[in-house]
Amino acid sequence: MATEWPEIILTVICSLGFISLSKTFIHFARWMWVMFFRPLKNLKTYSSGAIITGSTDGTGKAISLELASSGPNILLVGQNPKKLEATSKEIRDTHGSHVEVKLVVIDFEKVNGEERVKKMEETTKGLDIGVLVNNTDMANPYPRYSHEEDFEFLDAIIKVNVEAITWVTRGVIKGMIRKKKGAIISIGFASCFVVPSFPLYTLYAATKAYSFW
Ligand SMILES: NC(=O)c1ccc[n+]([C@@H]2O[C@H](COP(=O)([O-])OP(=O)(O)OC[C@H]3O[C@@H](n4cnc5c(N)ncnc54)[C@H](OP(=O)(O)O)[C@@H]3O)[C@@H](O)[C@H]2O)c1
Repeated sequence: MATEWPEIILTVICSLGFISLSKTFIHFARWMWVMFFRPLKNLKTYSSGAIITGSTDGTGKAISLELASSGPNILLVGQNPKKLEATSKEIRDTHGSHVEVKLVVIDFEKVNGEERVKKMEETTKGLDIGVLVNNTDMANPYPRYSHEEDFEFLDAIIKVNVEAITWVTRGVIKGMIRKKKGAIISIGFASCFVVPSFPLYTLYAATKAYSFW
C-alpha cells in the first residue's frame, strides 16, 4: 500500500525534531565535559616561564603566585609600578629568591598596539615563555545605559579588555609557535555567554565575550 502524505510529513518533522534535539544534547554534553569532567591541563609542564597581565590584584595576583610555585621566570604586567613591586615581593617572600620576577609597566589605556607588541617582544626576548594569562580587566564603575557612557570610558574599556589581549598575545605567540608549545589563557566572564543579554553592562559584557574568541 502506498505511504500516505501525512505520514511522510510526520516522519520528516519527527526526524528534524530528533536531529535538532540531538544537536542540543551533544552541545550540552560537550559543555558538561569541558566544564566539569575534562582532565585539567597542567600548566606547569608548558615551560619555566609565564606572563600574567593585570597581575597586581585579585585573580591575576593569585594566578601569579600559583604559577611562581612551578617556574623560575614570572613576568608581571601591570600599570602601577608600586603594586607590581609589592606583588613581586610577595612572590619572592612566598616562593624564595630563586624565582626570577620581571616587571613590565604598561597602561593599556595609553599605549598603542604596535608599542605593546614591541614592548612584549623586547621584554620576552631570550625568555622561555610557555604560558600567557590575559587577565587585565576594566569594568563599569556602576550600572549604566550604553548611551550614557562617556567617550573616554568607551575608548578605555575597548583598549583594556579587547585590544590589550590582541596585542599582548601577538607579542608572545611567535615564540610559542617556534617552540611548538604554549598555553594562552584569556580570562572571560561566564555570565556574558550564559545569559542572552546583560542590561546596563552591555559594553562590558561584549568586551569580555572577546576572551572566548
Ligand atoms: N571579580 C569577579 O567577580 C569576576 C567574575 C568573573 C570573571 N572575572 C574576570 O577575572 C579577571 C580578573 O578579575 P578581578 O576582579 O580579579 O580584577 P581586578 O581585581 O579588578 O584586577 C584587574 C587587573 O587589571 C589591571 N588593569 C586595569 N586597568 C589596566 C590598564 N589600563 N592597564 C594595565 N593594567 C590594568 C589592574 O591593575 P591595577 O591594580 O593597577 O588597577 C589589576 O591588576 C577579569 O578578566 C574579570 O573579567 C572576574
